[in-house]
Amino acid sequence: MSGPHDALPKAEPEAFALSPGDTYQQILDRDSREVPEVLRWRSARELPVVRVPIERYVSQEFHDLEMEKVWGRVWQMACREEVVAGPGDYAVYEIGDTSIVVVRGEDHQIRAFHNVCLHRGRRLKDGNGRSDELRCPFHGWSWKLDGSPKPVPCHWDFPHAKREDFHLPELKVGTWEGWVFVNPDPECIPFEQHLGELPRHFEAWPLADRYTEAHVAHLFPCNWKVAQEAFMEAYHVIATHPHLLPSLGDCNSQYDAWDTFSRAVTPQMVPSPHLDHAPTEQEIMDSFLLQTIDAPPKMPVPEGMTARQLFAQMMRMNLQASVASVQRVSDAELNDSIYYTLFPNFHPWGGYSKINYRFRPYENDPNRCVMEVFLLSPFRGSRPAPASLRWLDVGEPWTNAPELGTLANVFDQDTFNIPNIQRGLRAAAHEHVTLARYQETKIRHFHTLLEKYVNA
Ligand code: FES
Ligand SMILES: [Fe+2]
Repeated sequence: MSGPHDALPKAEPEAFALSPGDTYQQILDRDSREVPEVLRWRSARELPVVRVPIERYVSQEFHDLEMEKVWGRVWQMACREEVVAGPGDYAVYEIGDTSIVVVRGEDHQIRAFHNVCLHRGRRLKDGNGRSDELRCPFHGWSWKLDGSPKPVPCHWDFPHAKREDFHLPELKVGTWEGWVFVNPDPECIPFEQHLGELPRHFEAWPLADRYTEAHVAHLFPCNWKVAQEAFMEAYHVIATHPHLLPSLGDCNSQYDAWDTFSRAVTPQMVPSPHLDHAPTEQEIMDSFLLQTIDAPPKMPVPEGMTARQLFAQMMRMNLQASVASVQRVSDAELNDSIYYTLFPNFHPWGGYSKINYRFRPYENDPNRCVMEVFLLSPFRGSRPAPASLRWLDVGEPWTNAPELGTLANVFDQDTFNIPNIQRGLRAAAHEHVTLARYQETKIRHFHTLLEKYVNA
């Protein structure tokens, strides 16, 4: 199942052919504040994958392999810690046919169990909730929150079932920045090894200190990788979101890949090098705010100020109540899209964007998937309750989730492509998708790791 590799010459990132216009590092040099070191870090990694077999997106055989060799073995984000905040709180996480219940015990420890009754196999729990035991609704077999069995009804009828054999099968659990991860493989690598250097990248932006302001899931008629890869590069902006070009340095983006994670940084509030004229600072602001041409500007940019500085200033004011050191935060962290991908499917964002994504197959189907958006916000004082999940069905507009604000309009443009990519791939007479050397670095990195897993 390994994909064909075209060897690329070894090169430092700077030696790659890059777009005309500023590099992201040059944009950072003009920041009104000192930028954090993490935005200066670069990777110098040679990635072998430049094209991907189309069968990876459409074939049941590859999907089955992925289920066994990737999802059966990898650390994967199951839920936010805040949804299992107290003893008895549980959250069900599903991947393919596997169902897992994450639960906080009386001892405050978070555990994860296969969400299946050991009597005749009914699922134990659905969704999220709170319960002082894990009780099967069929015949009432029950387990304590630590997975140990309680006495079964009519225990005289089970002389052949030894109590010690009926502990719920447990999975390994890891937590990082308020996210709970699980791994179905008892022989898996330690969680810290899977995270690698990622925690160092997020020292400046502790996501554990934020709460879930919105959580929206959208069902799509496509392979999970098709949806995920639509959110891993800024190369599509010129065709998919052309109205954003005055305010988005799409091809000034910087792309890097480390061991298990990758990163793209796309500057906002700087014009795209694709434009053949320089927009005014007001046009930059209006484009960012999705302003129509005949409406008065929503946020007038004062003389002598840039849209990038003004937006950063507005963000500092908005965050003043919840982020103590916000006056020292750079324009870059307040404006730019800093989007990480931890293999295989988790996308936390750096800086002060609220966005985080997760993508996964839906119901063990290579042609359907779920994309979830978690908006995380800083807060002061006691932690607000996390938002409950809103589900959007195939074809439903993201604007049905008003909690996403103007992001919903941008997601709708991306969603317009997604079903058509899957239909196109299923209809394709050619064998591979071909990836850009630099701007599709994150996708190339993902497939490099995917091959490593499926070939292991
Ligand atoms: S299937 Fe769960 S108690 Fe019977
Ligand atoms: Fe997009």
